[in-house]
Amino acid sequence: MRVFVAGATGAIGRYLVPQLLANGHDVVAMTRSPSKTDALRAAGAYPLAVDGLDRDAVIAAVTGAEPEVVVHEMTAITDVGNPRRIDAEFAPTNALRTKGTDHLLEAARAAGARRFVAQSFSGWPNIRQGGPVKTEDDPLDPDPPAPMRRTLDAIRYLERAVVDAEGIEGVVLRYGGFYGAMADMPPKFVETIRKRRMPVVGNGAGVWSFVHLDDAAAATVAAVERGEPGIYNIVDDEPAPVTDWLPCLAQALGAKPPRRVPAWLGRLAGGEAAISVMTQVRGSSNAKAKRELDWQPRHPSWRHGFAEILGARDRVVA
Ligand SMILES: NC(=O)c1ccc[n+]([C@@H]2O[C@H](COP(=O)([O-])OP(=O)(O)OC[C@H]3O[C@@H](n4cnc5c(N)ncnc54)[C@H](OP(=O)(O)O)[C@@H]3O)[C@@H](O)[C@H]2O)c1
Repeated sequence: MRVFVAGATGAIGRYLVPQLLANGHDVVAMTRSPSKTDALRAAGAYPLAVDGLDRDAVIAAVTGAEPEVVVHEMTAITDVGNPRRIDAEFAPTNALRTKGTDHLLEAARAAGARRFVAQSFSGWPNIRQGGPVKTEDDPLDPDPPAPMRRTLDAIRYLERAVVDAEGIEGVVLRYGGFYGAMADMPPKFVETIRKRRMPVVGNGAGVWSFVHLDDAAAATVAAVERGEPGIYNIVDDEPAPVTDWLPCLAQALGAKPPRRVPAWLGRLAGGEAAISVMTQVRGSSNAKAKRELDWQPRHPSWRHGFAEILGARDRVVA
């Protein structure tokens, strides 16, 4: 079928486009940047350079392409990392999750697309009460730390707009924390860990869920091809506390083990959001995605996946 991918050159898009092509789909690949179109064309996709915040341009691009499925993978997360400034740093991403979603949904409907698949996030948006691992039926955090409120509002907006959209099958994929080949790791995050600037704070009991980008792309192909509309957590099999995964990631990146600092010091340095992600957040279950999308992660645990980061072969196209 013909699939329109907005965000085709991002971390997930670079894994997704080749997997869609390998499954026999025609891919119309959207980027903002004309300089990236040659690589997309060389990979076998039909590239378009369009700004996702330009409503008219998006509608023209999608209606011109006449896709059966539209996939929204647009974010602007390249330069984030300050827990006190999450909402400020995510402002461009939040615009893509609100206005960008509205434009793309309107365009998909106008083009007569059957299905719309959109990127969301699983992990810190989960409610921070009750058990350590949450399903899609658990509520999102009703009271996130102040620096994350607008970002969670944008996630809620995207999810509701997509799932409630009339006349089109809306699918939301709540990806866990991405990891993959070294080239796909957020440079700021890697640098922070290598310089031992990301300590385990307090009891380090905050639970995170990860997903290898190869698996996230495979789940997205599955969601393009099958499954009921709705929300799916796309995470690996092993939600884990910071005390477990952070030392492993540091080792995988060739860094010394992370320092440990008491909660009061973590709060002083990083504020409430830092305390939340280090000691309070919950992880996510992938049972629904496995059951209903017939998807299995090839990297079931970050424990082995992290160890491959430095040696991973590049499977990206752009
Ligand atoms: N779940 C997660 O953990 C998660 C989710 C997303 C990202 N990340 C991390 O964040 C880092 C950066 O992410 P990324 O590589 O995906 O890059 P990014 O800068 O977030 O861009 C993602 C995609 O969105 C597109 N885009 C951004 N603004 C756009 C606009 N106004 N109009 C149209 N398209 C637009 C980009 O296109 P062009 O730049 O080609 O125009 C690109 O294809 C990566 O290390 C990644 O792993 C993590």
